[in-house]
Amino acid sequence: MTQPFGGYQNELYLHGLAGERPAFTTDATRLAESAREILEPGPFWYVEGGAGSGATMRANREAFDKWRIVPRMLRDAATRDLSTTVLGTPMPAPVLLAPVGVQSIVHADGELATARAASALGVPMVLSTASSTTIEDVAEASGTGPRWFQLYWPNDPDLCVSILNRAAKAGFSTLVVTLDTWTLAWRPNDLDHSYLPFIRGTGTAIPFSDPVFRSGLADTPENDTPMAVLKWIQMFTGADRNWEALPFLREHWDGPIVLKGIQHVDDARRAADAGMDGIVVSNHGGRQVDGAIASLDALPPIANAVGDRLEVLFDSGVRTGADVFKAIALGAKAVLIGRPFVWGLAHAGEAGVRHALRSILADFDLTVGLSGYRSPAELTPDALTRVS
Ligand SMILES: Cc1cc2nc3c(=O)[nH]c(=O)nc-3n(C[C@H](O)[C@H](O)[C@H](O)COP(=O)(O)O)c2cc1C
Repeated sequence: MTQPFGGYQNELYLHGLAGERPAFTTDATRLAESAREILEPGPFWYVEGGAGSGATMRANREAFDKWRIVPRMLRDAATRDLSTTVLGTPMPAPVLLAPVGVQSIVHADGELATARAASALGVPMVLSTASSTTIEDVAEASGTGPRWFQLYWPNDPDLCVSILNRAAKAGFSTLVVTLDTWTLAWRPNDLDHSYLPFIRGTGTAIPFSDPVFRSGLADTPENDTPMAVLKWIQMFTGADRNWEALPFLREHWDGPIVLKGIQHVDDARRAADAGMDGIVVSNHGGRQVDGAIASLDALPPIANAVGDRLEVLFDSGVRTGADVFKAIALGAKAVLIGRPFVWGLAHAGEAGVRHALRSILADFDLTVGLSGYRSPAELTPDALTRVS
């Protein structure tokens, strides 16, 4: 499984000898700038924006700066193996692609391009319920690539079971249940552009192709899109649940189940008590609760409390190899990359996702080695120091 991801830098420098430069930046912290030049304001802000004043998004990034890596020398770290296995899914590095809905708003190839890019690198993708393409088409594009499915838990149990069965049949191995978005937050960037893709019938491919959903409609979604959209929106939001609802998912999903959106230690403990297989410590990239704790600040106490009982994954704010390093050192088994791969998709479809992902993986690989480590398992809080 070892892949010399750091070798991507040699590839890029060698291409330079032939006068070629990367089509867009290798620095994910700057990708939004150039994406803004490509995209219409509605789609751009839908991806870039956060809840309210953007305070949680800023906190997510600032939290990484409070931790610094303390490199070690003379440790024979030239050869590294970044591979790991999470919930039975082998991966070449502790990195997955986060579930991101409505990818067709940034590039016509949308989730299909993402699936192909992820599969080519062996990096697992997590397909969103709000996909602009069907479960079955994404599975085909992903081929033998590892894939997980993210559920926005519809309030119609029959539809929920139908979607779960389709995902299982199409080879999605782990279920990621997102808990933090049972309704949309106040998002001024989207409100100011009056832009919400779902009400335009984008990001609805999964329900619209579902036999149970279709059987409940007076007319097909193709003939009467507004009515189908309305019905889906009523099912898909507005249903906050409680911990007692989880056995329903266990009953209808045979594989591992991961709860996404955990930020409080007590919720992490409850997830473990409920027999969940994993959690994603995530604040949805600052898109849901403005003024919330940085996801990275939530990670260490959670990993300490439950890291030996379930798999702790992490997202929100990961942009660089150093960020991946820090999250792993603070107790995450793997991290999910969000906006950076979406910007890659916006720039150049499948090739863009590959470039964005390979850039972060190369940066991570080199950072691990130059810090004196050879594998993610060696990264512990001892590799870091906290400043300020
Ligand atoms: C445009 C966009 C759409 C998203 N859609 C979903 C989704 O459908 N389901 C979900 O669980 N999370 C969704 N997320 C959240 C991501 O899975 C992830 O938690 C977040 O992007 C991490 O923050 P970061 O992008 O700042 O690193 C979305 C994020 C963005 C930026």
